[in-house]
Amino acid sequence: MNPLLRTVAGLGTGWVAARGLAVASRLQAGHGETAAAKVHSRRSFTRNAALGASAVVLTQLGVTFGLLMWPHKTGAFGGDIPVGADNIPGVGEEPFRHQAGKFYLVRNEDGIQALYWKCVHLGCTVPWNAGTSHFQCPCHGSIFDVNGSRTGGPATRRLDRMPITVKEDGSITVTTNPNTIEEAAGRTDYLPTDATPYP
Ligand code: FES
Repeated sequence: MNPLLRTVAGLGTGWVAARGLAVASRLQAGHGETAAAKVHSRRSFTRNAALGASAVVLTQLGVTFGLLMWPHKTGAFGGDIPVGADNIPGVGEEPFRHQAGKFYLVRNEDGIQALYWKCVHLGCTVPWNAGTSHFQCPCHGSIFDVNGSRTGGPATRRLDRMPITVKEDGSITVTTNPNTIEEAAGRTDYLPTDATPYP
């Protein structure tokens, strides 16, 4: 819901709650009490009604503020990330690094892959080393070639991949949801089927 509408709804809810409690207080005050007791009872219920209404409004405002401050996942790691055709590397070119998505786009004759940069050993971020044309993990020395195959170090499988959807205009969408990341359990080498045909 629109935050403004949510705030208006909250104020409306508070007003309805206040009216309801005020009516309840009048009904209760009318049942066989002395005049002094009725006045005291009415004041007490009116005060409680006001407090209840205030609590409802403050809760609604708090929820609205919290939702406004909550970061949106659109375009960030965990969501679908669009990549323009201009950023798709050519065959044999250096990987394209996507900072927000935490992946590298690599391309060969079979197509493209979005390689998750989290090391499959113990989770360090794996940088691309342009000097050696390999991904080299700084933590314990695992090494992966440009296709993500493990070529050295303690890692026991190749780099993980993220699903790719290719669009007609040559742009792509990379799904960075951690639940859909594709692991090659126990496999250290690249297979042509790991790549998504492109274009
Ligand atoms: S975390 Fe990368 S080699 Fe250990």
